[in-house]
Amino acid sequence: TNGGLIRGRFREELDEVMEQINASIGFDRRMATQDIDGSVAHVTMLREQGIISGADATAITGGLDVIRGEIVSGTFAYSVKLEDIHMNVEARLGELIGEAAGRLHTARSRNDQVATGFRLWVRDAHDRTLRLLARLVGVLVEQAAAHTATVMPGFTHLQSAQPVSFGHHLMAYVEMFGRDHSRFRDARARMNESPLGAAALAGTSFPIDRARTAELLGFERPMRNSMDAVSDRDFALEYLSSASLCMTHLSRLAEEIVLWMSPQFGFVELSDAWTTGSSIMPQKRNPDAAELVRGKTGRVHGALLGLLTVMKALPLTFSKDMQEDKETTFDAADTLELCLKATIGMIGDMEARGAAMAAAAGSAHATATDLADWLTRELGMPFREAHHLTGRLVRLADEHRTTLARLTLDQLRGVDPRITADVFTVLGVEDSVRSRRSFGGTSPERVAHEVEQWRTRVEAL
Ligand code: ARG
Repeated sequence: TNGGLIRGRFREELDEVMEQINASIGFDRRMATQDIDGSVAHVTMLREQGIISGADATAITGGLDVIRGEIVSGTFAYSVKLEDIHMNVEARLGELIGEAAGRLHTARSRNDQVATGFRLWVRDAHDRTLRLLARLVGVLVEQAAAHTATVMPGFTHLQSAQPVSFGHHLMAYVEMFGRDHSRFRDARARMNESPLGAAALAGTSFPIDRARTAELLGFERPMRNSMDAVSDRDFALEYLSSASLCMTHLSRLAEEIVLWMSPQFGFVELSDAWTTGSSIMPQKRNPDAAELVRGKTGRVHGALLGLLTVMKALPLTFSKDMQEDKETTFDAADTLELCLKATIGMIGDMEARGAAMAAAAGSAHATATDLADWLTRELGMPFREAHHLTGRLVRLADEHRTTLARLTLDQLRGVDPRITADVFTVLGVEDSVRSRRSFGGTSPERVAHEVEQWRTRVEAL
């Protein structure tokens, strides 16, 4: 048991509940291979520095290799009595190679050991997330490419505002996920330093080479302060905050998919592969995956707030509170990755219903701004006056139960005789979208240009 390894000063066994609250093996087994990677680097360096013998190092590395095999194949017997993954691996190493196992922990503490293993795990999570975000941006760009001129209503306050293209709307998410990608990349670069060799908190009197273990583990450099190295969980917090923001973006897109899928909108369709039925209502096609992405956002936000709260006001250096960093981070990473995969799937699967979008765009006076702009540009009216006049025309259209674009020239001139037939060139939703040629605007050429830019950028993500 753990007692055998580190309870020299104790006479009695742990209380059962103490054992239960103390153990992290239930979840930190997920970083078993990272723990072994850290140990292999450490033992390699110890031998190179002449701190342990070549024979001991070979025995330890061989034993760790066997254990890695047992973990990967699922035959490793984890024990709660051994508290965590570090003690589980070390105890098994003792069974396999005997006395030499006891030399692995020279010039090391579980404090720098866990900081190293967890950092390696979070770094792997960053890499998986970066790849998924690149794929998501890729599918969004390709959907947008197919719909640079598909007109839909753009909303503010969830009220029809101005017509936009579906492609432009999707490209807005490309920008968000592009920023998410750069946030994860920045955070990964910042966290890629090695805590190994900080030992418990103060460093060690053994002649270790921290730059060497850093290099062996693919870290840029060793962390500069041993106390910071064992106390810092910024790397997990930055991962979680990037994940939280990314989930917020995913939840907004998910919510839009839910809205677009509702028969009242009817803007998009998802295939059978991405919809579920109802147990009682035979007609239903529910966008459950989108709802779950929306719902699961709470877990990731919760993980961030949870760890911020664990770390708040925690004095230097290690306290056992910090063991609470892993479970929610693992869950947040699983959740984020699943939601990214589901969103990639839905976006690739989604079929736009251009006719429904165009009808909705054309039905709500969505080109009122275009009319006001025309009055300003063509008649030299101050914009505020044009705004007021257009408002009166909207009311007139409402009174005739029609839309702005369908008012007759006589009706328009009844309100202001200066209006000419030229006005009809700006009242159609397609005209409106085509006219928005300003940088960042929704005109089809602008959107097509952005699509091309992103097709190149996505290669480099
Ligand atoms: N299981 C512990 C954790 O997850 C490992 C560190 C233990 N260190 C200690 N001083 N008790 O953080």
